[in-house]
Amino acid sequence: MTSGAMRASQEDFERAKRQVKDLKEDPGNEVKLKLYALFKQATEGPCTSPKPSMLDFVNKAKWDAWNTLGSLPKDTARQNYVDLVASLVSAQSLNQEKTSSNDSKSEYENLVVTREGNITKIMLNRPAKKNAINAKMYNEIVLALEAAGKDDSSLTVITGNGDYYSSGNDLSEFGIVLPEDIEKKIQDSYLLLRKFVEHFIDFPKPLVAVVNGSAVGIAVTLLPLFDIVYATDKATFHTPFTQLGQSPEACSSYTFPKIMGSVKAAEMLIFGRKVTAQEACARGLVTEVFPDSTFQKEVWTRLKAYSQLPPKSMVASKQLIRNFEKKTLHRINVEECALLRERWASEDCLNAIVNFINRKSKL
Ligand code: COA
Repeated sequence: MTSGAMRASQEDFERAKRQVKDLKEDPGNEVKLKLYALFKQATEGPCTSPKPSMLDFVNKAKWDAWNTLGSLPKDTARQNYVDLVASLVSAQSLNQEKTSSNDSKSEYENLVVTREGNITKIMLNRPAKKNAINAKMYNEIVLALEAAGKDDSSLTVITGNGDYYSSGNDLSEFGIVLPEDIEKKIQDSYLLLRKFVEHFIDFPKPLVAVVNGSAVGIAVTLLPLFDIVYATDKATFHTPFTQLGQSPEACSSYTFPKIMGSVKAAEMLIFGRKVTAQEACARGLVTEVFPDSTFQKEVWTRLKAYSQLPPKSMVASKQLIRNFEKKTLHRINVEECALLRERWASEDCLNAIVNFINRKSKL
């Protein structure tokens, strides 16, 4: 909004306030923080209240969002609030139109699971959030893997919808927790992560990752638990655990040094070096890299041919390759999750999450 543009009237502002209450879809934490900050700035002016403590997640995030507006004039904040609400209302009515014109109902909210011949395809489906994995999606992947392990398909494929494979753990979800609920959230996340990784360790059939775009965090660390990893040449692979005050998961503290050597593993897992698809392939994290322009065609032709191979023989060979170290993997998983539970409660991690949530609150 430029300074010469028309300012919203008090009536527009009151209407926008009512519209926010009537929104049927949750606009997400970042937008809610932005709305909060603009509302406070529009009604009270610049933030002068004392900064809440680090453990008071919710109020700290709200305070940061408001504080970043600095000396933004009240009437500009009011106009920005009205504009933001108008964009949410119009996005919501567009979504509702799309939903009512689309009868197909999926049992999953964040996945699209389809059958392609002998292949069960599990597609991560939060493209607007770069397929970040929230608690709901973790649970849905567990359910989809359980179903795929039992169905009569011969291969299971995991891929992403949109330009990302997955941006890893949903950071915003973890951030907005009331101080009194933090301990419970950390314990629930610990149990969920442990169960999630167990399902990859124990998955009985050949499991394939079709890495359609960049991968971050757990979307990268899980890859050694797949049997084939195909990647587009535009994908990058990145595990910024230290930057987030966190530590490696999905057995990567064991699998990464094993497949790429400890010095290359440390570069990724400790220092968060982002590698290209070619580098990931050279390090043994990716089976093969394909040009992005022919990626889907080449990969699916290959997988359809593999899916015609005798399924029982594939399962038997997979068991032979994987079974002897399953116990080790389960032990590593427990250790990694226990360390993460500690890291999640650390100031480094809390700070990193608050910073991520607030990074777009500045206008
Ligand atoms: N958790 C929560 N939300 C995420 C997310 C994550 N891991 N990754 C992306 N998103 C959301 C963004 O908040 C944004 O939401 P918004 O449109 O409501 O603001 C949306 O997805 C698009 O992301 P954006 O950051 O605008 O896209 P980009 O192309 O500039 O950057 C990433 C993409 C993935 C590099 C960047 O979003 C990022 O660094 N995400 C965090 C990745 C991460 O650290 N994961 C955890 C590893 S342990």
